[in-house]
Amino acid sequence: MLPLPAVGWSPDTRALRILDQRLLPAQEVVRDLTALADTIDAIRTLAVRGAPAIGVAAAIGLAVALETESGGNGAHARALLPEFSARLIAARPTAVNLAWAVQRLLRLAAETPDDQLVESLRVEAEVIRQEDLAMCAAIGRHGLTLIPDGARVLTHCNAGALATAGMGTALAPLYAAHAAGRLVTVYADETRPLRQGARLTAWELSRAGINVTVLPDGAAASLIAQRQVDLVIVGADRITANGDVANKVGTYGVALAAKAHGVPFYVAAPWSTIDAATPTGRDIVIEYRDAEELGELPPGVPAWNPAFDVTPRSFVTAYLTDRGMVSPPFALLSPTV
Ligand code: MRU
Repeated sequence: MLPLPAVGWSPDTRALRILDQRLLPAQEVVRDLTALADTIDAIRTLAVRGAPAIGVAAAIGLAVALETESGGNGAHARALLPEFSARLIAARPTAVNLAWAVQRLLRLAAETPDDQLVESLRVEAEVIRQEDLAMCAAIGRHGLTLIPDGARVLTHCNAGALATAGMGTALAPLYAAHAAGRLVTVYADETRPLRQGARLTAWELSRAGINVTVLPDGAAASLIAQRQVDLVIVGADRITANGDVANKVGTYGVALAAKAHGVPFYVAAPWSTIDAATPTGRDIVIEYRDAEELGELPPGVPAWNPAFDVTPRSFVTAYLTDRGMVSPPFALLSPTV
């Protein structure tokens, strides 16, 4: 059983509907958002999170906010579009999917007359959501060969159904293997400091009937060293032209341990996460978050709290996408692809 959709439309399609992940696993609360400020707040505070999910949320949230705040007037909506788009893109900098989705709506708006603008943006936002569902399913299909019966798989953060509109990216092959009757054991890194692995990955996998064990991030290297992990599979927030991968902080340490012990390290992501316009990991803007997320610190002690790190290409065994296994370098794509 997959969780409630992490992101989509309210039943009357007039609002962005999200499952509030700040409250999981204790409470399953959905929220309907129409104001742009509320969508931005939900993205910043990780009520909706995960690279593909924030792209879908931004697309639906932008279409809904423009419709609501323009009263359906196309010329007014067009006037609001540049400012609304810029504010959304600035909500979180590292995952490329957010800017990618907003820019898709901007390109469409540029070629759409005023009288069709609001409806066209709503339709495009739904296309982005549907594509995400299909991309997740395709990643699951292509990734099935990576997960033999009895596989013991380590993952970091949450790249599952809660991070997408569909069945996830890194977790999609695990759902597919489980559905095919294979026994899968998942080790979910707790994921410091916001515990996406312990709260979210463990929640959605256990609901689906998949064996999952949570470990502190600092224990992952020991587990790998003890030969208890057959493969690692993680998601990505941005994959650069040379194949470097930004993902939740701690991913790089897992990749180092996997390489040291000869364990395959796979990155699973939709094609929209590949950012061929960014040459290398050094060019990625990493999001830094407030010290409070680390818990109580002694007075006057500063914190260094990056949300993401970069795993160099040389640590990645293979890149699993909705188009199958792909290899860098990634060429610049046409904007419509
Ligand atoms: O800060 P988060 O929870 O949004 O970070 C999420 C991740 O790092 C995921 O691994 C990544 O977005 C891929 S989700 C399919």
